[in-house]
Amino acid sequence: MKQIVAIDGPSGSGKSTVAAMLATKLGYMHLDTGAMYRAVALAAALDNLPYDDARRLDELCEQIRIEMRRNEGVVSVYLNGQDVTEEIRTPEMSLGSSAVSAVPEVRSHMVRLQREIGSSGGIVAEGRDMGTVVFPDTPAKFYLDASPEERARRRWLQLKELGIEEAPEKVRREMDERDQNDTSREHSPLKKAEDAIIVDTTGMSIDQVIEKLADKVKELEESGA
Ligand code: DC
Repeated sequence: MKQIVAIDGPSGSGKSTVAAMLATKLGYMHLDTGAMYRAVALAAALDNLPYDDARRLDELCEQIRIEMRRNEGVVSVYLNGQDVTEEIRTPEMSLGSSAVSAVPEVRSHMVRLQREIGSSGGIVAEGRDMGTVVFPDTPAKFYLDASPEERARRRWLQLKELGIEEAPEKVRREMDERDQNDTSREHSPLKKAEDAIIVDTTGMSIDQVIEKLADKVKELEESGA
């Protein structure tokens, strides 16, 4: 039976790359829930809304349309019909998404949408609360982690590939700030689900991580879980 694969972990743990490639390997859909919070932050910035104004963010979430569209195997993020895939990846949107994601009203809109997209299975959903809140009943739960140095190095590389040159110390500082926000917020903080399989990706190749996850998912598919 097709599974709901829940992957959680901090930024730079490898979850986005792994989730995208694992989805391709399994023939599943990839759901990047961080991209959804990033799209909310972008919508707020475009409307000049403060990232902590719960009431107005709640209204904003009712009005906006966030979609994931798949073109030739690549998933793009659309906000109100516009492709915002690149715009949502800037350092400002990283901090903005972390801020709006602490607002419970925003989370409840996003969780509803994520369940709508994922509940019939055949999906690799990645984020911070996939195993703990959004899909707590799935047996296919993973928590990816890596050392802070390695995570900051990956994040720096990612930005460089997007053409954003940042000082490594600044990347590390902003990553630490975001980690702090994401793990200490009151609502659905990043934490390991009790039954998640923990994978430390420091020193592992992407292929090794994918193989480990794919083996487990195949086992679950075959067991009829
Ligand atoms: O995975 P990412 O770095 O693109 O996520 C951006 C921010 O969104 C991150 O700082 C925390 C938040 N987020 C969340 O709170 N819950 C999720 N399921 C996914 C992301």
